[in-house]
Amino acid sequence: ESEFRRLAELYGFREVVTPIIEHTELFVKSTGTSSDIVTKEMYTFQDRSGRSLTLRPEGTPGAVRAVLENRVRVPCRLYYIGPMFRYSRPQKGRYREFYQLGVESLGEARPEVDAEIIALGFEFLAGLGISNCRPEINSIGCRECRPAYHERLKEYLQDRTEQFCADCRIRYQQNPLRVFDCKMAACQELLSSAPRSLDHLCSACAEHFAGVQNGLSRRGVPSTTNDRLVRGLDYYSRTAFEYSLESGRAQDSLGGGGRYDYLVEDVGGPSLPAIGFALGEERILLALGEPGGPEARLCWVVPLGPGEFEAGVKLLTELRSAGIAARMDFDRCKPKQQLHSAASAGAQFALILGPDELAHDTVSVKNLKTGVQQEVPRAALAAFLGEPGAWPRETRNWIRNSGPTGAEPRGPFLKS
Ligand code: HAM
Repeated sequence: ESEFRRLAELYGFREVVTPIIEHTELFVKSTGTSSDIVTKEMYTFQDRSGRSLTLRPEGTPGAVRAVLENRVRVPCRLYYIGPMFRYSRPQKGRYREFYQLGVESLGEARPEVDAEIIALGFEFLAGLGISNCRPEINSIGCRECRPAYHERLKEYLQDRTEQFCADCRIRYQQNPLRVFDCKMAACQELLSSAPRSLDHLCSACAEHFAGVQNGLSRRGVPSTTNDRLVRGLDYYSRTAFEYSLESGRAQDSLGGGGRYDYLVEDVGGPSLPAIGFALGEERILLALGEPGGPEARLCWVVPLGPGEFEAGVKLLTELRSAGIAARMDFDRCKPKQQLHSAASAGAQFALILGPDELAHDTVSVKNLKTGVQQEVPRAALAAFLGEPGAWPRETRNWIRNSGPTGAEPRGPFLKS
């Protein structure tokens, strides 16, 4: 999250914090009535005065609403980090509560902007060390060229409706483009020779798409054109993209986004071009692989006996004011037990204080990962711990619980 913040701010985005609960209508009007999200995945409820409210399933509608209600001056670039909620079958990489890292640019129309935004997500993922992910891009056209394409696609589907799955038959009625989203192998097979939007773009959309491709190569971002990529939300126009891992499985999409040049107007604002994306934090963590044990940027002060207790507390305070995270075990007094606590908390260094250290005004610094111990003068301690290389590059200072992965709640608190 801090890396995302840093990079988004480098690209001129400012953080927007929006409520987790919004009026249901906002998502119906934006995410759209032909999306799975609105038709089957929203956590919707009535409040005490009978209003229909929804736990946000995605961040884009709330960000747009916030800009309009607060009369934020446009063009503006906003980013957000926070939990989203979708009622879908939980499985690896798909949870009912998950976190998104998202950006939205409102008021910028040029293809160079699309390229810059796609590049931002790519740079972020690559910077985390995810090297097997590249953006897939497509264009789904605009209000000028899409109706004719829809007709062509419908004609194609019409002759085959019986062979498509039940969901696809509904998609065919509501928004034929969405059949490309179907995960069923049989439907995918039927679609192999279906007309593609890229072949039916108007000249303005074709020019825009070429501009995006040029912009990406100018930035050295490798991308693949995927003419089946349509995205599962209703508001997109022109550029649609996804950050996919090379394996190609659905849960291997780390994030996605696109242009939504009509959405702002559709929810009651002015006509305003816009583009954004969101990345799934849990998907990113899965792609990064299981971290080893906990490794915190933490020092553990170990007074060897009651005589060093006071000096230990003083050292704790000094460390914290020097910006170094530190703890001490107040419950256990045997040094061995204290070292054990340090290791299980993932601390990097034990700072040992015994009578000798007090006498020499030093601290014995034990690197708990390597076992190497050395005596450091108190006055040089902060500098020693602040040295480059003192800490491993990757530390994990958090615990993440993706929530129940089974269909029903379970766990020690819920056992009957
Ligand atoms: P989305 O494709 O629905 O787009 O979600 C973006 C990312 O959120 C997905 O690629 C995935 O990594 C993650 N995600 C979605 N659902 C789940 C889930 N149930 N469990 C775990 N991770 C999940 C949007 O949400 C759009 N608002 C993106 C956007 C922003 N378009 C324009 N601006």
